[in-house]
Amino acid sequence: MSGSARAVAHSNIALAKYWGKADADKNLPAVPSLSMTLDSMSTTTSVGFGHGLEADRIVINGRPATGPEASRIVQMLDRVRQAADLRTRAWVETANDFPTASGLASSASGFAALALAAACAAGLKWEPARLSDLARRSSASAARSIFGGFVTLGAATGGVDFLAAEPIGGSDDWDVSLCVAVTTTAEKPVGSTAGMRLTASTSPYYGSWLGLAPQLYAQAKDAVERRDLEALGEAAEKSSLAMHACAIAGVPSVLYWNPTTVALIETVRDLRARGTLAFATIDAGPHVKVISKSSDAPLVVETVGRVPGVIRTLVARPGPAASVQLLRSGS
Ligand code: PMV
Repeated sequence: MSGSARAVAHSNIALAKYWGKADADKNLPAVPSLSMTLDSMSTTTSVGFGHGLEADRIVINGRPATGPEASRIVQMLDRVRQAADLRTRAWVETANDFPTASGLASSASGFAALALAAACAAGLKWEPARLSDLARRSSASAARSIFGGFVTLGAATGGVDFLAAEPIGGSDDWDVSLCVAVTTTAEKPVGSTAGMRLTASTSPYYGSWLGLAPQLYAQAKDAVERRDLEALGEAAEKSSLAMHACAIAGVPSVLYWNPTTVALIETVRDLRARGTLAFATIDAGPHVKVISKSSDAPLVVETVGRVPGVIRTLVARPGPAASVQLLRSGS
């Protein structure tokens, strides 16, 4: 078997957050989430299975991957090999088109692109839902990056094994933008899996989060269906603040923010008080993402870019689904 393929997947930002696992081994989320796929941030990944390779060879942004980073990729390759009944090792080359030192998560676009490229190179003709389920096993947010526009991922209920994201549209006919304010180039001290584990086992508010998150998800989904930016932004800001409040109350505290994060939250509130529909959301890191109308994005970018501590700003619109190209079919 010597097939190879190249895939492109875009990153996504959750507007209703996933935080907490129903089953850590199967990587199943405890709460439903809703995201927007981002047009201007993508990962391109090529995978080839080849005779003669003694081990999987993985290169990320031009340097060989090792340790836990490499193991997570090998784990996905093993799942693909098992499904395709393959024994050959693979080479993997992956690169992001957004700055890696920006501190922005690349696991969503990275594992979506890897799932697509590896499955295609292995000769598996899988539908998007099955690819989304494969991506989800490595990183739940990656399940959503298989699709474009606005995308949902349900919560796991009652011993399910298969869980895929679903697209809910909204990318072509809705004037929304997301401005990312980058506040550090440092690596985050606690990854999302460890942060979720700590939150679930020690935060006194984890039970409340499990009760609230599905309500905010339902509000966000309804708002996307009605193309109501204000309702979506309100639900998104509440979801993000509730997720962080719950994590911050963990022992030890899972605190992803820095002083610039707080200054940005205040700046976004200020913008709103002056009549601009702008809402903040924050993931497992100190950067702040602001959702607004595309026509307001220049004002948002200029305003958040002036906040001391902001290193750079990036703007994204709803982006496309992941795509794949077969480079060479297997033999
Ligand atoms: O899928 P992971 O392990 O990268 O976790 C994602 C967690 C958040 O980004 C904070 C929320 C989300 O739904 O993307």
